[in-house]
Amino acid sequence: MPDRPWPAAPVIYQIYPRSFRDTTGSGTGDLNGITSKLEFVADLGVDAIWLSPFYPSPMKDGGYDIADHMEVHPALGTLGDFDHLVARAHDLGVRVMIDQVFNHTSTEAPWFKRSVARDPVYDDYYVWADPKPDGTQPNNWLSQFGPPAWTWNHKRRQYYFHNFTSDQPSLNLRNADVQAELKQIMQFWRDRGVDGFRIDAVTSLLFDPSLKDNPPATPEVRDKVSGENFVPYTYQDHAHDILPGDGVDYIQNLRDWAGEGAFLIGEVTSGNKSVDLACRLVADGGMSAAYTTDLPEKKATAAAYADILDRSDDPGHLGWWLSSHDQTRHLGKAGDGSAREARFFALLLATAPGSVLIYQGEELGLVQPALPKAAVTDPLDLLYWPDGPGREGARVPYPWAEGGNRGFTTGAPWLPMDWPEGISASVQHIDKGSVLNFYRDALAFRRASMQDLTLRHWERDGDVIRLSYPAAYVVLNFGAEAVEVEGAADLSSDRIDGTLPGRAGAVWLR
Ligand code: NOJ
Repeated sequence: MPDRPWPAAPVIYQIYPRSFRDTTGSGTGDLNGITSKLEFVADLGVDAIWLSPFYPSPMKDGGYDIADHMEVHPALGTLGDFDHLVARAHDLGVRVMIDQVFNHTSTEAPWFKRSVARDPVYDDYYVWADPKPDGTQPNNWLSQFGPPAWTWNHKRRQYYFHNFTSDQPSLNLRNADVQAELKQIMQFWRDRGVDGFRIDAVTSLLFDPSLKDNPPATPEVRDKVSGENFVPYTYQDHAHDILPGDGVDYIQNLRDWAGEGAFLIGEVTSGNKSVDLACRLVADGGMSAAYTTDLPEKKATAAAYADILDRSDDPGHLGWWLSSHDQTRHLGKAGDGSAREARFFALLLATAPGSVLIYQGEELGLVQPALPKAAVTDPLDLLYWPDGPGREGARVPYPWAEGGNRGFTTGAPWLPMDWPEGISASVQHIDKGSVLNFYRDALAFRRASMQDLTLRHWERDGDVIRLSYPAAYVVLNFGAEAVEVEGAADLSSDRIDGTLPGRAGAVWLR
């Protein structure tokens, strides 16, 4: 693998390990389960897989609260299993990317415990600050989930900073020893054959050390929020807690630590100004690509699609996606749940001008089942229950087969699997007209006929987006009404008969 360079805009398949396939009967997916299904993933026609965290973790944030960045969670396997997974993926021509969560660790990480104890080596590994004279928090910063970003530690008589939950203390990435640790982590995984990294919450890695208050967001900044103003975080202008002056330059460190040839894709969770930040991160080759939550959170409308193109000078280096482990599956949220619309969204992704992220199960046209509160473990869903983002529902394990626990596990699945009949991978595999086979066709088409994704021209006309590439012309009709088009398309998500129906897309090769 490493001697073959990455495509400029790869198609990356995201696997949430706990929910992909269980080989031990524990009810939780594991690394060997992923390996057992890599052939299926390769057949889909993707360039790479991205594994969400599989590291030791108390699972206070679905594994994004890491206790040891250089081990495998015992419930998910061993380092030997990981090596086996990488070898099998490479045999199949699939590159392996893993999540690197460098913004924070778990409170259970030995580094944090030593920092709390003021061990001189670890004293400054995290972001500690004294209270204001009246005992309140050092500044007005908020966590991205809503509550204040500071939690009191009575042992140190100080507050610690956290961009997410209080179980995820933020690391002090300006500390040279922390930097050396992160470099070691990246090299450890590169040595095991990893080809690239998805950098979690990349925009939060650096903040202004003066810890100044953030000003309120101007109406203009608030307008640019990815979704609704659901959390107070969007009410601030993140002038000081998100990539300050030297923040973008800092990204070059990640590039250096990752070593030659690694593909780095960054997750921008800044809430507002997101596309602008993503563009700055990819400028000068810092990150290979970056993606924001705008398209999924704005329910994949033509306006949202056009807004991203409007605000970016380099759409080829953005990541295009609709679903993830953090979002309600798009087919039910932005669509009507039908196979027809699943094909439309598949075509939208397959024709996108940059890297594409596909979340496990969207190739089956899944609409996520409702979960009872008692089953939910996700901190964000629970904080706003029942009005949260529905992150846990997107993690309901994968339906490989019909009956029983759908070929996911022989035990009791860690989340209820209330999938309808007839949607499993085994059924769709042999049905020529299935959503699964449309994803395969659409990705094969992108690979064979749309190699040059330089966007020559694009336009939005109401609910219709038209994209012009050197060798292909794409029409995406997000609206309900049919639009006139000329001639038979080379690929379409629905039947074309002089018109392209509503909620459909098509591509013509030149
Ligand atoms: C983004 C991850 O995708 C999400 O699941 C997590 O809660 C936050 N980063 C914090 O790590």
